[in-house]
Amino acid sequence: MARQRKPLSVDHSHHKYAKKITHHTEKKNSKVSYWRRGVMIICLAIAGCIGYMGYLETRVNTPFDDQKMVVKTGLAAPDVYWGSYRPGVYFGLKTRDPYSLVSGLMWYFTRHIGADGGGIRHWCEQGDNLDRYGWIEHNGKNFGIQEIQDGPFLITTSFVKRLGGDHGGDWTARIGVTSKDQRLEGEQISFLVYTAVEEKSKGWIKPERVGSHMITGVRGETEGLGPFSIKMFSNVGKVLHESYLSTSAMGLHLLKETVINSLRLATDKQTGKKWISLPGELNSRGPDGKTIEPNFIVTQVTGSVPFEIDVVFESSSVLDHREILRGDVYSKELQKWRDEFHHSFEEKFQLQSKGYSEKEIKFAAAAFSNLLGGIGYFYGSSRVESSHTRGPVPYWKAALYTAVPSRSFFPRGFLWDEGFHGLLISSWDIDMELDIICHWFDLMNIEGWIPREQILGQEALSKVPEEFVTQRNTNGNPPTFFITLSFILKKFGHTLHENGRLDTLERLFPRLQAWFDWFNVTQIGDMPGTYRWRGRDGTTNRELNPKTLTSGLDDYPRASHPNLDERHVDLRCWIALAANTLADLAKLLSRNEQKYVNTFQYLSNNNILDDLHWSPLSQSYSDYGLHTDMVELKKPPPSRSHSHHPAQTAEKIRVVLKDPELRFVDSTFGYVSLFPFLLQLLQPDSPKLGKVLEDIRRPGLLWTEYGLRSLAKSSPLYMKWNTEHDPPYWRAPIWINMNYLVVRALKHYSELEGPYQQKSLMLYNDLRKNLVKNIMKEYYRTGYLWEQYNDKTGEGQGSRPFTGWSALVVLLMAEIY
Ligand SMILES: *[C@@H]1O[C@H](CO)[C@@H](O)[C@H](O)[C@H]1NC(C)=O
Repeated sequence: MARQRKPLSVDHSHHKYAKKITHHTEKKNSKVSYWRRGVMIICLAIAGCIGYMGYLETRVNTPFDDQKMVVKTGLAAPDVYWGSYRPGVYFGLKTRDPYSLVSGLMWYFTRHIGADGGGIRHWCEQGDNLDRYGWIEHNGKNFGIQEIQDGPFLITTSFVKRLGGDHGGDWTARIGVTSKDQRLEGEQISFLVYTAVEEKSKGWIKPERVGSHMITGVRGETEGLGPFSIKMFSNVGKVLHESYLSTSAMGLHLLKETVINSLRLATDKQTGKKWISLPGELNSRGPDGKTIEPNFIVTQVTGSVPFEIDVVFESSSVLDHREILRGDVYSKELQKWRDEFHHSFEEKFQLQSKGYSEKEIKFAAAAFSNLLGGIGYFYGSSRVESSHTRGPVPYWKAALYTAVPSRSFFPRGFLWDEGFHGLLISSWDIDMELDIICHWFDLMNIEGWIPREQILGQEALSKVPEEFVTQRNTNGNPPTFFITLSFILKKFGHTLHENGRLDTLERLFPRLQAWFDWFNVTQIGDMPGTYRWRGRDGTTNRELNPKTLTSGLDDYPRASHPNLDERHVDLRCWIALAANTLADLAKLLSRNEQKYVNTFQYLSNNNILDDLHWSPLSQSYSDYGLHTDMVELKKPPPSRSHSHHPAQTAEKIRVVLKDPELRFVDSTFGYVSLFPFLLQLLQPDSPKLGKVLEDIRRPGLLWTEYGLRSLAKSSPLYMKWNTEHDPPYWRAPIWINMNYLVVRALKHYSELEGPYQQKSLMLYNDLRKNLVKNIMKEYYRTGYLWEQYNDKTGEGQGSRPFTGWSALVVLLMAEIY
């Protein structure tokens, strides 16, 4: 285990101390008294302690001590240097550099803009209430097309990259607007195309206008990009007005605010018409009175619908710019990529040959493309905490290349989501997925821990409420990357010898071992063979059932009184899956797999599993712990000492009506009860499998026409609020990641000889059909894939677009598991 190597600081402190002592003792050797020696020993103990405490303190933010996973990034990987790596904005491009040049788009309709800048679109905000938006085609590398329905107007953004030169090549973005409603032709829209350099990206930009026909563009140079230029051309429609802003913005998270503060009403000298316009150069001065160089340039072009512009980025290191990538040249190139996309999409997912209609395939392509187009590149440091640090400390600065659950609501990396995303991404491009895995595992610390939510950089940080920022090193999250890896081994094992993939897995192996150990050691339960999620609050009386955020299933009910006796069936199954995957990987890499084989055999032994987790009373798998169902949220009685606070403002607290006892937590049938089946640990002839299958289909529990709900209708906490402010989250709604695992398990058991083979097949067909039908219906009804689906109506709810794991619908359609 690589963790046994101590960081330098420890050896160092011991070393320093030892030297001092030798020096001291040599000099006064003869006179050292008994007394002195005693003092020295105490000093030694104290210094040792301080050194050791310092060592413990630094462990949480000390990187894992082994070769780095990411070996090629930045300009060393030119084909993925530029990309739409800013998932949180409607349209933006940047490079895979710690500090990048970023470009992006804002827009507004003249008749919609408010005096406070309301109506300007920039970040993907749910509050903008757009009818739909998302990438409808995107290959993760060279091109993408996005449609944005803003009221009656359809805005289309696309980009195409062209490799060449030594700095990541060129690209062109096309931004256009149309409307189906003839009466809206002539409606004025302003596109604000901007370029910004981050403070530390070591470069400059300045506005530049070449020739009289062209719109103000940008010239500049950065360390990564070398010299470059950005030019703009109008394609369709006439530019009614053009203005620009060149200034210094206080940060990437404040670009829109900077624009709003600069907009003003100007009068056209020739026509006398008034325009909302940008003021040109707007120099700010630093505290020393010197002008601050501009780092933010915005060009506003106003036109009337239909209207379209091309934005052309050219790197000076590309020598041949004879044929500018714009107009017809661009259209042709874009079409070439689109054709190639559809060809690959069919080759990978075979939806056409499965008989899906054009409309159904369009839906699948959009779901999938918005996942790929949502891949971001982030840089910064998380904030972490351990029991040895005094408060939160920064993690080391690191880069993360990752997909995101939701471009609007969760535009950053989430550990357990990413394992599900990995199934889709590796189906498309296994090297892209390995790259993502490499980035994630470089975030592992020396303890083998990976923080579960990655909030890296200014843009990401500004979207997260303060109380969620700090991550604790005692807290885990389902290790779903093991699902991705077992999927990769099963599906693509024959291709792993190509392209340096085995080298990647070799580098990954020690990190996976450390990750496994972290779970197997820190999340262990009190009884042998049991596991317990850390991070539950056993002291609160605010929550009806203290949340288990670490399990990924947030408010899914567990033992009502968290304590050391608790054991969690889902966690035990995750660890079994992890051991099994490591055993397979060890075999592939010709390493000793025995330890993992043994652990897997032990954890998948159905008799031991049943002893620990099968409730004889409810005849279902369940957690075990100190539990009572008899809890309620109530307003506390008015108390005298707080008589100056009116009683009704006091928050509801939990009242326990019957004392909890040690027992199976078996009144809460739902996703957690399915885990031994879900992760395929049950023997195909186990009667328990038969019972699980019966319960899946039993009316009134989990089955709905739209998929399996998270918690049985019969459970006391079904649809219950956890506090006055926390509506039910995993207490009824239908979640697609779990449903995907159920469908996958049904498929598995339908292919194994046994008494439940037929039943599995039947359920497989029905559940899969229900899910696909509903997610697609909701997409066409609302314009989005959703975070979850209502168990009574099937309606999408929660955040949107949620083309993270809800995009697994594509694999359901393709029957890829
Ligand atoms: C996991 O932990 C158990 C209990 O401590 C131990 O017996 C087992 O060997 C561990 N598994 C591995 C693969 O390290």
